[in-house]
Amino acid sequence: MNKNDVLVRLTGIGKDFDVSPPLLNRLMERQDKVLLKAVDNLSIDIPKGKTFSLVGESGCGKSTVARLTVGLYRPSRGSIVYDAIDMATLKTQAQIEPVRKRMQMIFQDPYASLNPRWRVSDIIAEPIRAHKLISGKSAIDQRVAELLVQVGLAAVDRVKFPHEFSGGQRQRIARALASQPEFLICDEPTSALDVSVQAQILNLMKELQRQFALTYLFISHDLAVVYHISDFVGVMYLGRLVEWSDKRTLFQRPWHPYTRMLLDAIPDIEMSGRQRIPVAGEVPNPIHPPSGCHFHPRCPYANDRCRNEVPAPIQKDESNVACHAVQEQRLPDVAVTGEPADVTTSG
Ligand SMILES: Nc1ncnc2c1ncn2[C@@H]1O[C@H](COP(=O)(O)OP(=O)(O)OP(=O)(O)O)[C@@H](O)[C@H]1O
Ligand code: SF4
Ligand SMILES: [Mg+2]
Repeated sequence: MNKNDVLVRLTGIGKDFDVSPPLLNRLMERQDKVLLKAVDNLSIDIPKGKTFSLVGESGCGKSTVARLTVGLYRPSRGSIVYDAIDMATLKTQAQIEPVRKRMQMIFQDPYASLNPRWRVSDIIAEPIRAHKLISGKSAIDQRVAELLVQVGLAAVDRVKFPHEFSGGQRQRIARALASQPEFLICDEPTSALDVSVQAQILNLMKELQRQFALTYLFISHDLAVVYHISDFVGVMYLGRLVEWSDKRTLFQRPWHPYTRMLLDAIPDIEMSGRQRIPVAGEVPNPIHPPSGCHFHPRCPYANDRCRNEVPAPIQKDESNVACHAVQEQRLPDVAVTGEPADVTTSG
């Protein structure tokens, strides 16, 4: 990928959380500090104007990547470069502010960060006021009305309270757009919504992306959603990226056994070349992850090397895959037919 096409580059990022027992217990029981590697050595490039999605089971580190990318957490390791600006070099508020304004995060729960005592107009206007983007009440009112219309709500909705109508996620998107960002980090933005609302929101997000040339980091555990919104997809397992590629390649020619396991769980998908492997086993405790390849206890192809050595990513056809069996060419090739149900039509 051309360097100029990349808006966000994450290189070898990691995030450790200290999950040690309280100091006193540790001293009495002579325990060491316990670190949980929520994200481990993850590298991705997010191209301008495109959607890069991260998928994986609960607890694999998706939200942590989102929070690292938007600057809510500092990485324990690695670098985050936003439009050629290394985020670690930004020290003062005056340096950080103009870059932070260019990105916005949309969370899962459509109501959680909407203050119930504020009217919709105040909620949406807040970032405009905070970033001093527009001054004067009537100019701000006009901008709020415009934003409401852009997300498919009515200008008159601005006098309502958030709970008075069902467009919770639309209000959040309007608020996120208020500072005219170019990059949206969307953490499960539709997973709390019912199917028909989810379809509408996904279509709205696609439309806004087209209209404003937005770049998305999109997070979801739902492969059908990911299929319809993404240009690129990365699969995470216990903090590590195990496979990533453009969407078609990932859904048509997956290589990593975990990616194949996730795809096998989709009813409309058939894989030629081998039998269906149901999603088996539990995700292990992330505080004591399995040695070597974290996936080895659940993997039908695991061998001694898998149990001892962390697989490094290699390029395989159009994909990037971290798996010893792929590197050793002992995995059967599969061709996938079918695609996930279209979640952007609401029936
Ligand atoms: N602030 C924190 N302190 C300690 N551990 C944390 C913290 N935040 C996340 N974790 C742990 O880090 C791991 C990754 O969590 P994260 O929320 O990023 O996963 P996720 O993929 O978003 O999961 P979900 O699909 O459930 O939202 C989990 O084991 C989680 O318990
Ligand atoms: S490295 Fe080994 S255990 Fe891990 S996915 Fe590949 S074959 Fe399975
Ligand atoms: Mg999450």
